[in-house]
Amino acid sequence: MTEHVTETAVDTEAFRERALASLLTARDRTTLLTSCVEEPDLTAQHSPLMSPLVWDLAHIGNQEELWLLRAVAGQDAIRPEIDSLYDAFEHPRAERPSLPLLSPKEARAYAAEVRGRALDVLESAAFRGTRLTEAGFAFGMIAQHEQQHDETMLITHQLRKGPRALTAPDPEPVPLFTGPAEVLVPGGPFTMGTSTEAWALDNERPAHRREVAPYWIDTTPVTNGAYQAFIEDGGYDEPRWWTAEGWNHIRRHAIKAPLYWRRDGGQWLRRRFGITEVVPADEPVLHVCWYEADAYARWAGRRLPTEAEWEKAARFDPATGGSTRYPWGDADPAPEHANLGQRHLRPAPAGSYPAGESPLGVRQLIGDVWEWTASDFLPYPGFTAFPYKEYSEVFFGPDHKVLRGGSFAVDPVACRGTFRNWDYPIRRQIFSGFRTARSATAAA
Ligand code: AVJ
Ligand code: FE
Repeated sequence: MTEHVTETAVDTEAFRERALASLLTARDRTTLLTSCVEEPDLTAQHSPLMSPLVWDLAHIGNQEELWLLRAVAGQDAIRPEIDSLYDAFEHPRAERPSLPLLSPKEARAYAAEVRGRALDVLESAAFRGTRLTEAGFAFGMIAQHEQQHDETMLITHQLRKGPRALTAPDPEPVPLFTGPAEVLVPGGPFTMGTSTEAWALDNERPAHRREVAPYWIDTTPVTNGAYQAFIEDGGYDEPRWWTAEGWNHIRRHAIKAPLYWRRDGGQWLRRRFGITEVVPADEPVLHVCWYEADAYARWAGRRLPTEAEWEKAARFDPATGGSTRYPWGDADPAPEHANLGQRHLRPAPAGSYPAGESPLGVRQLIGDVWEWTASDFLPYPGFTAFPYKEYSEVFFGPDHKVLRGGSFAVDPVACRGTFRNWDYPIRRQIFSGFRTARSATAAA
């Protein structure tokens, strides 16, 4: 996809092409993730935190059927009896293996049948008239949904024990980053969220002004090396760095390092997609929960950025006073901008992707690791659920913390400066890291 989709010009044919390309890209990835292991690995539950891979596969097809075939095209259900099996709200993940799920063969055939019909619908759909079809929104939403579940399946692959099933080249090595450790973001209002990005999801809307006090933010995500210093300094044994909840949580579960890390003599090793390797010091830390990110920041004399601070660092252009789609401007992500799309199976070293930096010089905001923010997941002023309350609205509140920026496992179609992810503060199996900040006005 090289077409630059502007925020105002609704070019139907460009959106149709973008929708087609996005659906095909997502399906290639789904196919890779569900064909690189044998059948027992598709139906097994590798962790009670996750669905069997075959559930994700049929759920992808079922959501596509619900929105593109039934809602957009008015078709009847292909297999109405399976809807409830693949409704994420009827059955929690831990329960899904005991359901009479479609077999891998049936799930593949079902997803393929839905896809065949969806491409027919796409060919002739009017990309206007209703909010669901305007600029091909429903197609973009479904491509993003599939990519989100592809990331979920990659998380399952990482949890899975056993030999490596996936391979990918490593990111380009870069010289050790020697630029400034932090960047000053000026105070004042900026535009947060969007009302014009065609495929932005409901929780990213509407655009609104936000006042932010001046602050310093890390130029790059916190690295494994920096995080190791926290561990070596006894960070996990010192309650004053932790919130009360965080302290209780790490004590109860004997958490002493990021997920997948193991101490071996004098060094830290980690398991990554079926291989064990020395933890690379210059790579952004991965698989930490919100409590760990928050504690590290306090230990460092800093704090997590708020969600608004994260977005201002990522989108505010001091030359114009406006907000861009991405840190580098309005162009869609290209490989030189960011580590996205599962091109690699790991984050790139801190300081990578100079072409992707923000006007103020903040790097790797997009891609590499999801970044925990200090903020609860809340609706923007003027939010309305669309097209269904179960995407965002039911998750709003203090139980979930916002993550921003996307990981190496996020496809460009599901990644923007406005994109919002959320999870429980205990989550570590997700591709989560963080960067820190401090207020510029008062002592941090
Ligand atoms: C936005 C990643 C939290 O996976 O729970 C997938 C995305 N919503 N199907 C999730 C989602 C419905 C969602 N997250
Ligand atoms: Fe889903």
